[in-house]
Amino acid sequence: MIKILFICLGNICRSPLAEFYFKDLVAKHNLSAEFYIESAATSYEETGNPVHPGTRKKLAAAGISCAGKTARCMEREDYRKFDYLIGMDSMTTVSMMRILGGDPKGKVSKLLDFTERTGQDIADPWYTGNFDRTYEDVKEGCEALLQDCLLRL
Ligand code: 4NP
Repeated sequence: MIKILFICLGNICRSPLAEFYFKDLVAKHNLSAEFYIESAATSYEETGNPVHPGTRKKLAAAGISCAGKTARCMEREDYRKFDYLIGMDSMTTVSMMRILGGDPKGKVSKLLDFTERTGQDIADPWYTGNFDRTYEDVKEGCEALLQDCLLRL
């Protein structure tokens, strides 16, 4: 089983988008049993809050539900629980490293590192208002991530 934690600042816009897009993607490949997928925040700002309506709308248009998801903050313990800890931008990975205290097993990356756009960030629609662009980037990242995971199965 491959365990993946997607992470962003608030866990209401980008990381839930990645969580539910990726869950749907693995389901379409009949691989749900091979994965455990979650998302979390690097801040307590939105703890307990539901997914942002902008993200919900993009997922719903693709026929994907994120019902029941509420934001939670990541913890140091998540490092042991997950194989991949994937941040959405550099600010996220800096905060992740602070929370985790290091990355001895090389589990931390950014979602676009799996694409040909290594090192690039996924813009935060909380600030940009552009959920379309973020959706396209998350989709590209998730599709490339799946290819990476398939090599491990
Ligand atoms: P996210 O967007 O990190 O993609 O979930 C944000 C959501 C909330 C806040 C910041 C970013 N906030 O400051 O409350």
